[in-house]
Amino acid sequence: MDKVSSRILEMLRSNTGYISGQQISTEFRITRAAIWKHIRDLRKTGYIIDAIPNKGYHLASSPDILFEEEIHCLLSARTIGETVIFHREIDSTNSVAMLLASDGAPHGTVVTSDSQTSGRGRRGREWFSPPGCNLYMSVILRPSVSPAEASQIPVISVLAVIRVLEHLNTGLPFQIKWPNDILCRGKKVCGILCEMKSDMDQVYHVVVGVGINVNVTSMDPCISDIATSLKLETNQDYSRIQLSASLLEELEEIYLEWLQERNLKRYLEEWERYSLLIGRNVKIETPSETIAGIATGLSNNGSLILRLPSGAIREVYAGDAHIANHNSKPHMRGHAL
Ligand code: BTN
Repeated sequence: MDKVSSRILEMLRSNTGYISGQQISTEFRITRAAIWKHIRDLRKTGYIIDAIPNKGYHLASSPDILFEEEIHCLLSARTIGETVIFHREIDSTNSVAMLLASDGAPHGTVVTSDSQTSGRGRRGREWFSPPGCNLYMSVILRPSVSPAEASQIPVISVLAVIRVLEHLNTGLPFQIKWPNDILCRGKKVCGILCEMKSDMDQVYHVVVGVGINVNVTSMDPCISDIATSLKLETNQDYSRIQLSASLLEELEEIYLEWLQERNLKRYLEEWERYSLLIGRNVKIETPSETIAGIATGLSNNGSLILRLPSGAIREVYAGDAHIANHNSKPHMRGHAL
């Protein structure tokens, strides 16, 4: 959206009644014809603007599209989301955010898109990213921490999303499937892809990419057995703008708190409460092996702690988790740290 359209929008939004063409023309020093062009552009992007001769313009409704202006209307976070770069369609918000970060984009810069042509998931998987219905968002973070400490960021990010989902008061049972999936009734509703650029002892940037299936109702047939959306579960629509603003606020809050201690201790109880795996017999598939055991906790670097059949304890840093026997009851919960 161009600057003048954005400022006209701001003016219309701040007034519940009609604003005359004359007022807009004086404010922005543009002709009536130019105003009309901006109004037409705004309408094309989905804003419903009433125009009555001799009365002026009135903003009747705004589209649920993740424009910076829309997110900023609801956002009280200070640095995360200060700049929001919106695209109608892009390959992947994570790819763009990683490039922007390498080019020096500041901490807190957010990239959103209405759709992705190559949305990426963990381990090279594709992320289903149709237009007009879901949330695809990547946040650039620049923590002054070691790479080992940065490995805690996926954990606080998944908690930020869980908190936002809980605030919707849907009553849905959300669960975290280690490492970063959020499931609802056994199906995935959210995925998080964290990527980092660092050297051995210094983190340059981390990108937290969040995909939430919000209002999508027709899932890709390949994933309809394993994925769901908030709308499919509740038969209700949700505001993507509201969700995004809440997510940026939660992320800022938990990130700043975490940064002071750089420790997961205070989040473990909350994480375990939502964990699907803790206390269960699981199999973790890593690129090199499959490890079976009982998940007993989360370590301070975000890895899953397993008790192997031999009784030995093993930390697994990355992989895909499967519950070995779905009917089995969880074992006694164990604590890491
Ligand atoms: C996963 O479950 O494997 C992670 C999925 C992450 C998807 C999000 S959508 C926004 C951001 N851009 C991407 O290309 N991926 C993440």
